[in-house]
Amino acid sequence: MLGNFTYVNATKLYFGDESLQYLNQELPKYGKTVQLIYRGGSIKKNGIYDQVVAILKANGKTIVEDGGVMPNPTVEKLKEGVQIARQNKVDLLLAVGGGSCCDYAKAVSVSVNCEEDPWEKYFIRFEEPSCPIVPVACVLTMVGTGSEMNGGSVITNHEKHLKIGHVFGEEVMPKFSILNPKFTLTLPHKQMVAGIYDIFNHICEQYFSGTDDNTSDYLAEGLMRSVIHSSLIAIKNPQDYEARSNIMWCATWALNTLIAKGKSTDWMVHMLGQAVGAYTDATHGMTLAAVSLPYYRHILPYGLAKFKRFAINVWGIDAEGKTDEQVAQEGLKALENWMKALGVTLHISELGATPEMIPGIAGATIILKGGYKELTHDEVMKILQESL
Ligand code: NZQ
Ligand code: ZN
Repeated sequence: MLGNFTYVNATKLYFGDESLQYLNQELPKYGKTVQLIYRGGSIKKNGIYDQVVAILKANGKTIVEDGGVMPNPTVEKLKEGVQIARQNKVDLLLAVGGGSCCDYAKAVSVSVNCEEDPWEKYFIRFEEPSCPIVPVACVLTMVGTGSEMNGGSVITNHEKHLKIGHVFGEEVMPKFSILNPKFTLTLPHKQMVAGIYDIFNHICEQYFSGTDDNTSDYLAEGLMRSVIHSSLIAIKNPQDYEARSNIMWCATWALNTLIAKGKSTDWMVHMLGQAVGAYTDATHGMTLAAVSLPYYRHILPYGLAKFKRFAINVWGIDAEGKTDEQVAQEGLKALENWMKALGVTLHISELGATPEMIPGIAGATIILKGGYKELTHDEVMKILQESL
């Protein structure tokens, strides 16, 4: 039965190849000082930085630079960002980049006016903000996480070997996000496919749970088919605007809370992948790809009906004359073949994980209960060993 829920999405999106111009419409709604959050490499080369700065200046904004946001933002960087925001009394946190910049902006947003240690408050105790937040907005240049239209923020603590996400409420979600598919055309192949797998896995995490008839699962199947279709075009011709824009739109819908409504969700691939990331600092989408197949093979018997449905509705497997188990296995094989075609990483050893790290990674894996099988510690160890 479809569960009870409230649905609101607080983020306004501007989508398309002219969408950056809408910054002019949004900026007057905020105060004078803008903290400009970015990494540094690509946006300075491809001209996005210059375009954003020109619009900020034309709107009379004072720009406070906050560059160097790393792919897995750290606690140390978060504290630095909070200091910058406090010292300059910023009015808006504008992230220009991918999920890392956007996640980091949200973590800064909820920490600027809080005295407590943000790591302890939000990423260990999972408390909600109890202080005024600074609004966040995003100009997206990397597709995958959905951070542009959700409350998620993932921060890494290298000292403690932990990578933990907090999903904040609607007040922390970006007030607006600008999605120009053309901005993603300069992404290196590795980032493009890591992002594509991240999108696909977000959908899987919300799909592989529950036994009821739920509209969210039908939406999920449609999104998965669109991601597969467009990805196969994009890997042949990365400059195909139609494919890249469809991938961008799928990414947003894959994780903007809609397809999780009224149902339980799994998220164990992300828990395993994040623990791998905490030890290796590897690219997020690749950590997911490297643990997915051993995990799904392991839980298949517990969610057989859904894996059969996945095989038929997502991959077009013909079920005629086959057992449910056979059909479900063929679905996973189709997934594996697609992952190989993308060229994503299928082994955590390729990301820097070693056999000696496995007990630590297993210990850092948060075990959730929403999927088809609540894993034991031994099962986590086994899946990680099979992922090596
Ligand atoms: O800009 P440079 O230095 O060249 O490098 C960036 C960045 O290092 C590059 N890049 C971005 N846009 C580009 C580009 N290169 C060329 N052209 C462009 N247009 O790409 C690299 C990766 O960017 P990053 O933001 O790190 O990737 P992603 O968007 O995948 O974000 C990853 C972070 O998001 C978290 C992950 O854990 C990870 O920390 N996640 C956030 C989620 C959320 N908010 O809901 C959910 C996800 O599951 C995920 O956990
Ligand atoms: Zn993800």
